[in-house]
Amino acid sequence: MPLAPSTLAETELAVRLGTPPRCPGGPTWAIDAPEMPRKKTRRKGSGLTAKKADIHQLYQRSVQDPPTDIAFVDRVFKKERGRKPLLLREDFCGTALICADWVRKLPERRAIGIDLHGPTLKWGWRHNIAPLGEAAERVQLLQQNVLDPLPSKVDVAMAFNFSYCVFKTRPEMVKYCEKVRASLKKEGAFFLDIHGGSENTVEVEEETDHDDFTYVWDQMPYDAVNGTSLRYIHFRFPDGTALNKAFTYDWRLWTLPELREILVDAGFQRVDVYWEGATREGDGNGIFRRVRGAEQEESWIAYVVAWK
Ligand SMILES: C[S@@+](CC[C@H](N)C(=O)[O-])C[C@H]1O[C@@H](n2cnc3c(N)ncnc32)[C@H](O)[C@@H]1O
Repeated sequence: MPLAPSTLAETELAVRLGTPPRCPGGPTWAIDAPEMPRKKTRRKGSGLTAKKADIHQLYQRSVQDPPTDIAFVDRVFKKERGRKPLLLREDFCGTALICADWVRKLPERRAIGIDLHGPTLKWGWRHNIAPLGEAAERVQLLQQNVLDPLPSKVDVAMAFNFSYCVFKTRPEMVKYCEKVRASLKKEGAFFLDIHGGSENTVEVEEETDHDDFTYVWDQMPYDAVNGTSLRYIHFRFPDGTALNKAFTYDWRLWTLPELREILVDAGFQRVDVYWEGATREGDGNGIFRRVRGAEQEESWIAYVVAWK
């Protein structure tokens, strides 16, 4: 169902998803050297409490950084295809923050956001898209399953913050990737991110402090038979209040080799992996390079680019 400003009503916030924090990088076998910082902004604030907080705002501040993601997409696409991509489809778009940033920068750009969850899309329209003014006309939000027929033909399809991990079986993942491939222009590309590392299958609770709240990424035990794990995002506030399980994820933890093979089986011509470099302290440095191999680390995030 397309969502346009005229069809939107004020809605309750809804509980949904999230993603792990940025992680350390490490030694890589680079085969080219593109540079892209990624993630995180901070804002001053005071007196934020569980009652006053808006979970979508907290989520966006904690785990999203559209300018960095878009700069990565632009650079990689332009290097390969010799032009900037113009039409984006953001699958699992949630609040459509990336769609908003996509059209804001260039007047010839259009974006389509797809998500199952109507209330989240409505929140996104109200807070991220409508404030764009005229540029909002170049954004379309669709409430639908990404496994249903997808609007085509886009330059770039994107599934970020590991959202495809809701698909727990290989046939489902292949089906989704086949649909994405079919929805791309001839020169199109599918951009995904993936997280992994030796800590990915252990119980970990990791806190990240922001000026006015703490973001908590909470990993439950790993099911070794099914390759699945529950993950939660909690938010804690300076007054001692908290939003526990603000977002819950029931995920299949796809490995990078599995994801690459699935994309190839879905018909993509080439699948590239971009691995993050490390600072001297061992933290991720926000610079992603195309690699053919990489040494396992405790926790990492990589970009995967599948070319039609
Ligand atoms: C982790 S959020 C991603 C939000 C945002 N794209 C980001 O990068 O942070 C995942 C979103 O996927 C949506 N979702 C889950 N399964 C879906 C499906 N089969 N089709 C469409 N959307 C789906 C959820 O409603 C949720 O808003």
